[in-house]
Amino acid sequence: MCGIVGYVGHRDTKEVILHGLKTLEYRGYDSSGMALMTNGEIIVEKKAGRIQNLEDSMSDKNFASEVGIGHTRWATHGVPSDKNSHPHYSMDKSVAVVHNGIIENYQTLRKELEDKGYVFASDTDTEVISQLVQDMYNGDILDTISKVLKKLEGSYAIGVLHKNHPDELICAREHSPLVIGIGEKENFIASDVSALLKYTKNVYYLEDGDMAVLKTQDIKIFDKEKNPIEREKKSIEWNLEQATKCGYPHFMLKEIFEQPQVVEETFNKRVHNEKADFSDILSYEDIKHIDKIYIVACGTAYHAGLQGQFALQKIAKLNSATDIASEFRYNDPFIDNKTMVIFVSQSGETSDTLAALKEAKKKGALTVAITNVVGSTISREADKTIYTMAGPEIAVASTKAYLTQITIFYLLALYIAELRNSISKDEYKKYISEIKNMPEKIQHILDNSEIIKPAAEYFKDKTSGFYIGRGLDYKIAVEGSLKIKEVSYIHTEAFASGELKHGTIALIEEGIPVVVIATQRELIDKSVSNIKEVKARGAYVISVGFEDCENLKNVSDNFIGIPECDDIFSGFLSIIPLQLLAYYTSSAKGIDVDKPRNLAKSVTVE
Ligand code: M6R
Repeated sequence: MCGIVGYVGHRDTKEVILHGLKTLEYRGYDSSGMALMTNGEIIVEKKAGRIQNLEDSMSDKNFASEVGIGHTRWATHGVPSDKNSHPHYSMDKSVAVVHNGIIENYQTLRKELEDKGYVFASDTDTEVISQLVQDMYNGDILDTISKVLKKLEGSYAIGVLHKNHPDELICAREHSPLVIGIGEKENFIASDVSALLKYTKNVYYLEDGDMAVLKTQDIKIFDKEKNPIEREKKSIEWNLEQATKCGYPHFMLKEIFEQPQVVEETFNKRVHNEKADFSDILSYEDIKHIDKIYIVACGTAYHAGLQGQFALQKIAKLNSATDIASEFRYNDPFIDNKTMVIFVSQSGETSDTLAALKEAKKKGALTVAITNVVGSTISREADKTIYTMAGPEIAVASTKAYLTQITIFYLLALYIAELRNSISKDEYKKYISEIKNMPEKIQHILDNSEIIKPAAEYFKDKTSGFYIGRGLDYKIAVEGSLKIKEVSYIHTEAFASGELKHGTIALIEEGIPVVVIATQRELIDKSVSNIKEVKARGAYVISVGFEDCENLKNVSDNFIGIPECDDIFSGFLSIIPLQLLAYYTSSAKGIDVDKPRNLAKSVTVE
């Protein structure tokens, strides 16, 4: 989704903005631009396509500027083009605005402005903001912005420059993320902290309804009514190295290879004296009466939720259900004060998840967020927040965040099981040790990652494929299928193996790849039968199972072994070859792995 950066200070503003835009690239975008205040004028430069286009077009332009805003756009209103890229001028060029979000009533506002004689230069919703600022300007920029914001319906994070206020950067947020970076004689704004890490680790997270005015030596934050307010200064723990590729060709590969470490860090953060410990977040009082858990999320986080449901049911013996965040509200979930709803979100900013969270809160549920981003909107909205320890995840395709979410779910299930007395001591001990051993086993798969390349070579020329599994394996199949879809553009579908004969087998034809995940020991024979059925119709079978599973190996065209573990933890391991398969297929096809087409890292519109 769109990314915003802004700067006021002594550095080369153009370079600071370009750096910020490049770090926000991972969010997904189709065009970019910047506005620089120079000699009392606002200069706007913007280009469709990659940031390189913007950089090239500005290479011979060196403006002395102490204030600037920049933007990566992910088109919602109006096609990706130079004219629809941000920043947007007002008609008289006194104002420039960058915006993330959607102005839902922009058509009405645009009509009112056009009736007054305003001419619009783009098809975007955003342009109404700059035109309104021009129209309503009364000499006091904060007062003007506050009045403009009252006319807007929808979501926004905005950065605004006004030529009569050449040393000020004004910003505001409502339902879209925005963070202020606090520097020495310089200050910043950005959609997320990765754009700031090079310069500062001290930030203020703006909240809905906040406005702020930044100068070189001064940050003032206000509420909607222009009353000065304080926000807590936070310090970011992530470092710049974590947000760079460190020699890997792509962030996705680096993040796959970071998984042993991030699972270990998440484990160490939550396990003390061999006990899963969430007592700082959830007490016995909080959970003793809970009789139902919903898990709500989108995309890969939803798939982590499916495994979470499995863990909560198997280990904590708690009635659990998982739902897609964008559907949750329409399903009339049975929520009362005995319901806990867990929201899973790497970014902590996903609009659908946030909207579902607000709904569940309204209905009286105990809301718990599992997120990776400290200070994110979802972390602040939820009653309780559990942080994963994945570090910054830059690749659009989620890998390490997913595995840390799984780690949290299994540990949480153990914590709840112990509090509610639903697990034996022996089982508890065994399960903790299983999770503790996961980093080493994941590392073993990564050390042998070359064995996945032939399967990727096979996949890369196909247009379609299937992922199947039973029980827990099915939950891994859906994530494996999404992963290869998003980064290799190959159509795949995941379904429960038992469903094969109920329709999908009609699609099996000569040479079609079928990826079979088969780690549930009791179900292996059934999976072997399914493999025979698809092979009899010409499928090429790539299977993922425990290293010593000879009967699976014998019927597969390509067998990928994973280390032994208790069946209920196999999801920690079986997903790794599937992530690698997606990565290698994508890179073999020459796709921009980290920034697949049409996708955004953080989906901040519904
Ligand atoms: O930031 P979130 O975890 O809330 O994001 C949810 C999904 O948008 C995300 O997992 C998406 O499906 C990824 N592209 C998957 O790789």
